[in-house]
Amino acid sequence: MDKLKQKIIEEGRVLSESVIKVDSFLNHQIDPVLMKQIGEGFADQFANEGVTKVLTLESSGIAPAQMTGLTLGVPAIFARKRKSLTLNNDLYSASVHSFTKNESNEISVSKDYLSGDDTVLILDDFLANGQAALGLINIVKQAGASLAGVGIVIEKGFQDGGKLLREQGIRVESLAIIDSLADQKITFHKEGASV
Ligand code: G4P
Repeated sequence: MDKLKQKIIEEGRVLSESVIKVDSFLNHQIDPVLMKQIGEGFADQFANEGVTKVLTLESSGIAPAQMTGLTLGVPAIFARKRKSLTLNNDLYSASVHSFTKNESNEISVSKDYLSGDDTVLILDDFLANGQAALGLINIVKQAGASLAGVGIVIEKGFQDGGKLLREQGIRVESLAIIDSLADQKITFHKEGASV
């Protein structure tokens, strides 16, 4: 069994039939050794796509995105959820609605860091309903950049995000896919990849 799945089993806490808490290595405390391996896993999967930028959404996407950028030798950008003091008006922005949290965020990226010359790999910690990924894809389109695909650390296969993105022909690579959290038990999809 791979290291990520092992970590999810050992340290993940099933909070309900649809939510798993992984604060000890991904969402609060970060396991940098595991993040490095995750970065190498995504870099390997997208090695031939000519990626020039990795794009994520703050905050929990930053660690895996940075490690992927490090391995690919390209910058990692995080879209901001709040307006920053120093972020000026030259922004790409999109609205992202979270069904899990029942809130909407306006996310934004400076036009200084994404352009039509870029090939972008989108990364995130979780894929649930796919709204964060769709917001980031919207930003990639606004920039006129190409999309290499979407890399996800943990996909919840029982929610619609993966289907929604793959049906649009988008390449989605998830390192671990959870098929079910029923009865406090974590069941993985057998294709969940390789880290
Ligand atoms: P979606 O983008 O796929 O539609 O996901 P959704 O709105 O449902 O998720 C909203 C937030 O909740 C995201 O974090 C997402 O990573 C997180 N999330 C969704 N399902 C789970 C889960 O089962 N476990 C955990 N731990 N997180 C989950 P966020 O608000 O952007 O937070 P952060 O990046 O600042 O940590």
